[in-house]
Amino acid sequence: MSGLIEIQDMCKIYNPGENEVRALDHVNLSIDKNEFVAIIGQSGSGKSTLMNMLGCLDVPTSGTYILNGQDVSGLTDDELSDIRNHEIGFIFQGFNLIAGLTALENVELPLIYRGVGKKEREKLSETALKKVGLSARIDHKPSEMSGGQQQRVAIARAIAQAPPVILADEPTGNLDSGSTKEIMGILKELHAEGRTVILITHDNEIAARAKRIIRIMDGKIVEDKINSEELD
Ligand SMILES: Nc1ncnc2c1ncn2[C@@H]1O[C@H](COP(=O)(O)OP(=O)(O)O)[C@@H](O)[C@H]1O
Ligand SMILES: [Mg+2]
Repeated sequence: MSGLIEIQDMCKIYNPGENEVRALDHVNLSIDKNEFVAIIGQSGSGKSTLMNMLGCLDVPTSGTYILNGQDVSGLTDDELSDIRNHEIGFIFQGFNLIAGLTALENVELPLIYRGVGKKEREKLSETALKKVGLSARIDHKPSEMSGGQQQRVAIARAIAQAPPVILADEPTGNLDSGSTKEIMGILKELHAEGRTVILITHDNEIAARAKRIIRIMDGKIVEDKINSEELD
């Protein structure tokens, strides 16, 4: 076993008992460092559940998850939160920015929780915002930015401390086609720089931009292929 992510025989059952939902059904998945993977499936197929597992936001009912060499399947909430802070940058469909804070403050916020000092925090945040092309917008609040710009702030927040894994759940779901292109371009750049990017989507066209496409249906992986016709 050598992958950055190793999932073995993972099941997730909601509401165990009579009304149980088997959201993940014996999933095996290995993702190496510096892969660009799309996980695709219809609504209700188990994508968000799998993302929650990959992101250490929830624990499986059974099976194991080894992330960066560490077995995280049996950790406590505090330990999982620590892993999340260090290993994973999250990007969500709804951006999840704080309305009252500027772009810079939004990017800084998780760094405050991680105990990064003010000077270093500002430096990391400014660098991340520059990387997503928002140097001129650091003092803007979310309401003063377009959806695409807000998602770029969220990406800056996710990458400020260079986590090994970027997990994006439908990151372009609320965006027009121009902004979608922009965001996909940034994710591709991050991949080109050596990050591992995992993109969750229900959209075939978005998935077609990844190097590897994993299809999930009824909680099972039904297809896992290298995408030889990767789109820009
Ligand atoms: N917290 C929950 N409690 C009960 N059932 C859930 C919960 N979350 C998801 N499910 C069910 O698990 C299945 C997979 O859901 P989900 O992972 O959200 O799929 P997707 O993100 O692909 O739409 C669905 O049948 C959904 O209704
Ligand atoms: Mg979902």
